[in-house]
Amino acid sequence: MRALLLAALLILTSFTPGWAAERGEVLAGTCRGCHGLKSEPGSPIPSLAGMNAKTLKAALLKFKTNKAAASTLMGRIMRGYTETDITLMANALSTRVKR
Ligand code: HEC
Repeated sequence: MRALLLAALLILTSFTPGWAAERGEVLAGTCRGCHGLKSEPGSPIPSLAGMNAKTLKAALLKFKTNKAAASTLMGRIMRGYTETDITLMANALSTRVKR
């Protein structure tokens, strides 16, 4: 089972078929309300556009597993997503251009 999941994840991350990219876009859409595409000066909520996918995924998993240094909202939000969802949204956000 574990190997199967790992294989599925590898396939997802290496090929990113159309449906996966689309799902990532939909999932990433929910972040926009708070994070926007550019950071307001002095805002504690940074823009996510164009962040490195690996860095983003690691940060999101920390929130999900309660290991982030500080979290008011993100821990609660990330607990609702699977690791695959998190990979897809990180990939989608990393391809956005910061404006
Ligand atoms: C309701 C507002 C809200 C939504 C929606 C939201 N965030 Fe956040 N995000 C925050 C806040 C506030 C912080 C600061 C950490 C905290 O207090 O939890 C944060 C921090 C982060 C950080 C850490 C950034 C850093 O440099 O430390 C990442 C990464 C992140 N959010 C990703 C996401 C993603 C991906 C989504 C969409 C699935 C999302 N957020 C949706 C409010 C939000």
